[in-house]
Amino acid sequence: MKVLIFGATSAIAQAVARKVAEQHGELFLVARHSETLKIIADDLLVRRASKVGQAVGDLTHQEKFTEWVDSAAQFMKGIDVVLIAHGVLGDQKELEKNGDLAFDIFNVNFISAALLAEAAAHYFEKGKRGAIAVIGSVAGDRGRQSNYYYGSAKAGLEAFLEGLRNRLYPHGVGVVTIKPGFVSTPMTAHLKQNFLFAKPEKIADGILSAIEKKKDVVYLPWFWRWILLVIKAIPECIFKRLKL
Ligand SMILES: NC(=O)c1ccc[n+]([C@@H]2O[C@H](COP(=O)([O-])OP(=O)(O)OC[C@H]3O[C@@H](n4cnc5c(N)ncnc54)[C@H](OP(=O)(O)O)[C@@H]3O)[C@@H](O)[C@H]2O)c1
Repeated sequence: MKVLIFGATSAIAQAVARKVAEQHGELFLVARHSETLKIIADDLLVRRASKVGQAVGDLTHQEKFTEWVDSAAQFMKGIDVVLIAHGVLGDQKELEKNGDLAFDIFNVNFISAALLAEAAAHYFEKGKRGAIAVIGSVAGDRGRQSNYYYGSAKAGLEAFLEGLRNRLYPHGVGVVTIKPGFVSTPMTAHLKQNFLFAKPEKIADGILSAIEKKKDVVYLPWFWRWILLVIKAIPECIFKRLKL
């Protein structure tokens, strides 16, 4: 399998990359910290990846998106899967006060991820095959006072991916929206861990299985689908009174 990963330093992305490497797959990694990226790439080669290429850059630099996809396609002589994994949680209270920070949260979690998916779509639709997997979040299912900046960016991303999936379906290209619940990664290191937290390796298994089974939307682990079904069923007149 030939996999291009945006946000390759993310803990979840690294877990996916390790599994691809163990199956002797080929990888092209894009992230903004060159030293971390090099350490990850070296480790993947030790784990028997056939090939690991890299590009360094901030994923909000839109002018580079097509170039990164083309570089990956050239390096691996084709791409089977594009995984878009970067994201920022942000501090809700800070975001309420600082419009610049809020802009960045929307930019990283929505605009950058959506436009990278579009760049991948342009590549795949020519070949009439391929899969675009994008990590959203259960937080996008309902706006809550504790994280509605992050949540609304992920909700916007999910709607974008729905439209993209609809557009790409006749071209034989899949779009998988990955919706994890809590995962133990640097993003959630400040939160008290409990039984609802999953390990990145478990989420990685779910991501690869969803791609293989050509799923459209997947909650990871599976039980979040039922939790969110209940949360979404709460009428707004009650929901607005809850401290969530
Ligand atoms: N952890 C959870 O509970 C959870 C739950 C639901 C969804 N998710 C989603 O899962 C995905 C992966 O997150 P994670 O849990 O693996 O967290 P993580 O380890 O903190 O990874 C987040 C990654 O995003 C990268 N990033 C942020 N802004 C960037 C930018 N402008 N340019 C390039 N890279 C940028 C970070 O790069 P640096 O290392 O360079 O900062 C980091 O590698 C995210 O989309 C997140 O929203 C996570």
